[in-house]
Amino acid sequence: ANPDVEAFLDVLNRRSPVLAAMNRLQLREFLLESRIFSPPIGETLYKEGDYGNSVFIIVSGEVGVQLDPADPAKLRTIKAGRIFGEMALISGRPRSAAVIAGKDCVLIEVPRRAMLKLISANDRARAYVDRVFTQRALERYLVPGAE
Ligand code: CMP
Repeated sequence: ANPDVEAFLDVLNRRSPVLAAMNRLQLREFLLESRIFSPPIGETLYKEGDYGNSVFIIVSGEVGVQLDPADPAKLRTIKAGRIFGEMALISGRPRSAAVIAGKDCVLIEVPRRAMLKLISANDRARAYVDRVFTQRALERYLVPGAE
C-alpha cells in the first residue's frame, strides 16, 4: 500500500459523515467511480432547472446555493463535510437552485449509481443523506403559515 494514498484516504474518511460511514475498501471503490476536482472560485457548478444525476461532497472550502433567483447575490453557504445536489437525485426533479464554487473548494462528484450503491449498503450514509434531504426540502417547499 502506498502510504501517501493511505494518508489521503484517512483524511477523506474524517471529512464527511458520508465518507466516514465507509470502510477502506468501500471508500476506494467509491472514489474510483467518482470525480475529485477543484473548481475556481465563482464557477457555476450547475444552474437551477438543469437536469442532474449526481451528488457532491465538499471535501474542503465551501459552495454557495442561490436560493432566491430574484436576489442572485444572496447565497446560502454550505461548508466542508456537507453534501449538495441530493434533492435532484432523490426527487427526480431538476436542480432546485444554482450552486456556485466558493474559495479553496475541493469536491467529489458522485454519480447516481455509486450513491445508490452506498446508501443501500450503508445505514449511516442513508440516514445522513435522508436527514439532509428532508431538512432542505421542508425549508424549500413548505410555505410557512400556509395551513
Ligand atoms: P439540488 O436541487 O439537486 O440542487 C440545488 C441544491 O441546493 C439542492 O439539491 C440541495 O443540495 C441544496 N439546497 C436546496 N435548498 C437548500 C436549503 N434550504 N439549504 C441548504 N441547501 C439547500
